[in-house]
Amino acid sequence: MKPIRIIGISGSLRSDSTNTLVLKTLAKCFPENVDYQIFDGLDKIPHFRPGLSENEGVIKFKMAIQHADGIVICTPEYAFGIPGTLKNALDWTVATGDLNEKPVAAISSSPLNTGGDKALAALLLTLTALGTKKNQQSAYSIPNVNLKINALRQLDDELTQTGLQAQCDNLLEIIGNVKLNG
Ligand SMILES: Cc1cc2nc3c(=O)[nH]c(=O)nc-3n(C[C@H](O)[C@H](O)[C@H](O)COP(=O)(O)O)c2cc1C
Repeated sequence: MKPIRIIGISGSLRSDSTNTLVLKTLAKCFPENVDYQIFDGLDKIPHFRPGLSENEGVIKFKMAIQHADGIVICTPEYAFGIPGTLKNALDWTVATGDLNEKPVAAISSSPLNTGGDKALAALLLTLTALGTKKNQQSAYSIPNVNLKINALRQLDDELTQTGLQAQCDNLLEIIGNVKLNG
């Protein structure tokens, strides 16, 4: 049987990003029949403007999305919004509809106790505009994330792990429904 393909997209380009760490933590939440990869290459995507031809970075991003059965995006919040890099990448998919009907999960994490809630809301709005498949459970924010990372740089907070597991389960359910009903 073909594996279910899921990609993680981090809104942060930092090498020690907490949001990328969240995505790495998700690897443990998916069952064996899931091929889960974290997309690397948001920084190779040029500034979007209609009419600009797609470079290798854009093509790689779109191919990754097209080949995925589902997508998890984990984003930081900058100045109450999502990072421009992430919004820019998503903007490239508008005209070609790569994210249309694609099952998604949206996560934010922040060192603040607001959990990046405004970025999460902004991300959900964009994902709605892009026609993605999601439900009321497809969003999760992680507040005070730095307090939930141990000395080994593992996200070992039990409540957060439960929340992340619920995101994975919910995403798999949406993917299952799409496969059944189209
Ligand atoms: C310029 C700047 C603006 C920020 N604005 C916010 C903000 O509006 N809300 C928030 O929760 N965190 C804000 N932060 C803190 C980020 O959430 C924090 O740096 C986080 O670790 C970035 O995510 P990363 O670890 O995945 O790179 C800001 C950080 C910077 C450098």
